[in-house]
Amino acid sequence: MGTVVIVGAGPGLGLSVAKVFGEQGFEIALIARRAATLDDLVEQLADAGIAAAGYPADIMDRPSLVRAFRDIAANHEPVEVLEFSPAPRGPEKGLVLAGPLDVSVANVQPHLDFYVHGAITATGQVLPDMLERGSGTLLYTTGPGSVRPTPSMGNVALACAALRNWVLNLHDALAGKGVYAAHVPLSFEADEVDPDRVAPHYWDIHIGGEGGEHPLTGAILRAKRLS
Ligand SMILES: NC(=O)c1ccc[n+]([C@@H]2O[C@H](COP(=O)([O-])OP(=O)(O)OC[C@H]3O[C@@H](n4cnc5c(N)ncnc54)[C@H](OP(=O)(O)O)[C@@H]3O)[C@@H](O)[C@H]2O)c1
Repeated sequence: MGTVVIVGAGPGLGLSVAKVFGEQGFEIALIARRAATLDDLVEQLADAGIAAAGYPADIMDRPSLVRAFRDIAANHEPVEVLEFSPAPRGPEKGLVLAGPLDVSVANVQPHLDFYVHGAITATGQVLPDMLERGSGTLLYTTGPGSVRPTPSMGNVALACAALRNWVLNLHDALAGKGVYAAHVPLSFEADEVDPDRVAPHYWDIHIGGEGGEHPLTGAILRAKRLS
């Protein structure tokens, strides 16, 4: 079945995506900075009968991210799915929010490093093998600001929109190669929706073998529940 690597694995979406793919027989590799959090996620997954392993790395420290993927390649089945959904836990040094009038090179650069350069680095570790095998799914999560103007997130949205642009181009460039790149803009507040209800969307994209844009909003989730 292969391995799913979750870059930016936390107790929210990351854990839920791990559960969904683990239940389907995937090996699970989790990347985040804090080893203690990863240990806790691995324990929760083990309680659910899912084998997982944590690989501490910082997206902002590119060599550590590359090392994590090297270790994953040594310890697991080939990576069939990459899921990129890091989320800063509260205010973090350098990752400040700025509205459009306050956007500066200094306050955009860290977000480009985090979202764009992080995603490019992670993808570079798995895409060559996926292309050689002719199979794989690349999933990238952002919030609503990547798609429509969200003034309060002027600098973050700029970086997420750039990530979205790259993913959609990647999707086009991958046509006919058996590898799919999908952008998943989530448009609800983190506390509005149970991530266990969000994660099956990622499985559906993977199993459907269709890249491009796959938005998920509260309204779409409610409609899915009713159908
Ligand atoms: N949950 C929702 O309903 C919802 C709603 C809207 C948007 N979203 C989007 O969904 C995604 C996931 O959000 P979530 O809150 O549910 O995430 P989560 O899976 O609970 O946690 C994400 C993890 O990313 C890790 N991270 C942060 N900075 C990192 C770095 N520099 N290097 C490596 N890992 C890093 C953090 O762990 P460490 O601090 O240990 O590194 C954090 O635990 C995000 O893209 C978010 O914008 C989610």
